[in-house]
Amino acid sequence: MKDAMLNNLKFYKGKRVLITGHTGFKGAWLTAVLNYMGADILGYALAPEPGSLYEKIRGNDLIRNVTGDLLDVRLLEKTIQEFRPEIVIHLAAFGFMKECFNDPVKAYGTNLLGSTNLLEILRRCGFVKSIVMVSTDKVYDNKDDGALYKETDALGGEDAYSCSKICMEFMVRDYRKSYFQANNPMTGVAVVRASNVLAGGDHIQTRLIPSILKAVAEGTAVELRNPSQTRPWQAVLDALNGYLAVARLLYENPALYSGEWNIGPTKDGIRAVSWVFEKISSFFRGLDYKDGDRFEVSESETLGLDIGKSLEYLDWEPVLSCEKVVEQVVEFFKSQRAGEWERQICFRQISEFYGGC
Ligand SMILES: NC(=O)c1ccc[n+]([C@@H]2O[C@H](COP(=O)([O-])OP(=O)(O)OC[C@H]3O[C@@H](n4cnc5c(N)ncnc54)[C@H](O)[C@@H]3O)[C@@H](O)[C@H]2O)c1
Repeated sequence: MKDAMLNNLKFYKGKRVLITGHTGFKGAWLTAVLNYMGADILGYALAPEPGSLYEKIRGNDLIRNVTGDLLDVRLLEKTIQEFRPEIVIHLAAFGFMKECFNDPVKAYGTNLLGSTNLLEILRRCGFVKSIVMVSTDKVYDNKDDGALYKETDALGGEDAYSCSKICMEFMVRDYRKSYFQANNPMTGVAVVRASNVLAGGDHIQTRLIPSILKAVAEGTAVELRNPSQTRPWQAVLDALNGYLAVARLLYENPALYSGEWNIGPTKDGIRAVSWVFEKISSFFRGLDYKDGDRFEVSESETLGLDIGKSLEYLDWEPVLSCEKVVEQVVEFFKSQRAGEWERQICFRQISEFYGGC
């Protein structure tokens, strides 16, 4: 067993961490995880969407909240100067393929310009030691041949989401070399490419899990866009534990850990959309699916992530199997329906995850 869980638990107690995008899905979970670890956390993001997990767990009680836009440079700078974070985890993004396709100006504005605003402020601060820029597995030049992509493989996308993240990654490369390494070598900067996450509490109906659970709740058939597509599914807690491991190691050794890292499941987490559906439906009687409308933007049939570099050089490894994550998603859903507060469910699953340490 690798010890990222234990090392993260020890390290983050009392650390000042800025999370951008804390009101989003991963952000709400990360807020709960860092609160559980005893970190001093501040979040900067747009207001939470109605019905979001952040709203349900009453995230504002768990983190210092600043509602702001990455494009509002003055507020962003004031927030950072006042809070003086040691660690920054940049999750904020305009993050869905369909929405980015419909509004590419917003996609590039948020994902490229917003991220540049953040690094421009951070490069002038002497106090930040570790910066994790969250990217995605959709940045790889996916030939749709079932290959597992590794950090050194070529980037290439054909849609506004992927391309805006690729632009962000090139900007980060420039800032790392031209400014951080040149003038501020004690600050580590990494890009972390994560795959699709699974967890309870998601409210975005175009994503797979919420669409299946909505059909369960309403007794209707699930509309699946692409049942045969394979994706590397991972537990949100494993992905966040990976971000936290990279941020901690960057803090301790910026020269060694700056760069790109893939965070995803082992090979057995690469499963078809239909597998996820079948697995969830095994918990509910009579659930069926029909073909849903495809997005205008084309999606690859296969996508695989090679996590060999992370397994070799980080103290991190994914610990929850695909089967276990689906069980947790269903447990979250059933507890929610039984009236348990979402915050309590999140903290229970977090404490089960870290409890063995
Ligand atoms: N969810 C996944 O499966 C997945 C997979 C791979 C990578 N990612 C990446 O992880 C990150 C978080 O994903 P998520 O699923 O939590 O996304 P999300 O859409 O649920 O949350 C996005 C967050 O960004 C904030 N945000 C958006 N535009 C902003 C702006 N202009 N100024 C300030 N804040 C802004 C939102 O307020 C929200 O807090 C993103 O960078 C995404 O690209 C997600």
